[in-house]
Amino acid sequence: MPSYIVVGASRGLGYAWLQNLSASPSNTVVGLVRTPTPVIDQLASDKISNVRVLPADMTDPVSLSAAAAEVSKLTNGSVDYLIVNGAYQNHPVASLTPTAFIGKEELLREEMRTHVDVNLTGVMFAINAFLPLVRQSSIKKIIVLTSGLADLEGTKSGGLASAVVYSALKAALNMVVLKYSIELKEEGVVFLALSPGVINTRLDTPSEEDLASMMAMMQKFQAHYPHWTGPMKAEESVAMMKDVIEKVTIEESGEFLSHKGNKEWL
Ligand SMILES: NC(=O)c1ccc[n+]([C@@H]2O[C@H](COP(=O)([O-])OP(=O)(O)OC[C@H]3O[C@@H](n4cnc5c(N)ncnc54)[C@H](OP(=O)(O)O)[C@@H]3O)[C@@H](O)[C@H]2O)c1
Repeated sequence: MPSYIVVGASRGLGYAWLQNLSASPSNTVVGLVRTPTPVIDQLASDKISNVRVLPADMTDPVSLSAAAAEVSKLTNGSVDYLIVNGAYQNHPVASLTPTAFIGKEELLREEMRTHVDVNLTGVMFAINAFLPLVRQSSIKKIIVLTSGLADLEGTKSGGLASAVVYSALKAALNMVVLKYSIELKEEGVVFLALSPGVINTRLDTPSEEDLASMMAMMQKFQAHYPHWTGPMKAEESVAMMKDVIEKVTIEESGEFLSHKGNKEWL
């Protein structure tokens, strides 16, 4: 009866994790979200009854500790898989290159600050809040969602100057995951920085400028990965990631892998 906690599970890949994991009735599945009611309603409309939804904001360590205390009651004090999925993404700004911020200094400062708050510090708050429960498990796996855009070699060979803030902070996140893995290896806690591939989870309609920069990035992806036919469905990505997280071992702890379990990002 494995237990899975998904942090940032309200929509996109996070919600797809809840759908996938709840398909096995023996799993204990908990989704942490900032605003529970719409997620509870969505689960009901999808006829999913074996997922518990708890409130927590990744920028608020008190809310994460309160959620961990609730989870502990549901799972007898242990967590097998902690999946830290949530992230701040500001799509129009996410495509910008370093020099596109010239004359937009406040935007750059704000963007960096929010990325650090949610995508770096928030991830650490989530891991630290749940670590005592993960330590009590015999499985002990902590999975952090990152991006192939954080791959230094791929960025160089693909000639990708765009998405500077998002890519830089995900690269920093990979280092954070590696540090945790080194510190906790002897305890047998397995860490993985996992990239999901490319999935269209956007709720907004992109502007023409935004669309043009997305298309330019897609063309670069295609030049580098000729077999790539475009974004995957969230459920497809999650099914592949699930396979990777089940197979990952303590020897691979701290690795930065794709949904394919290797360094092939698309
Ligand atoms: N989609 C892709 O192609 C892709 C590619 C590479 C990596 N990734 C990574 O995969 C993960 C999921 O991506 P996605 O596309 O599904 O993202 P998404 O659709 O933008 O959803 C982001 C999720 O994070 C939650 N979140 C944001 N700030 C939060 C906070 N302060 N506390 C708690 N939850 C918060 C959101 O909740 P609210 O509803 O409350 O805002 C939402 O559930 C992210 O880490 C992303 O960087 C995605």
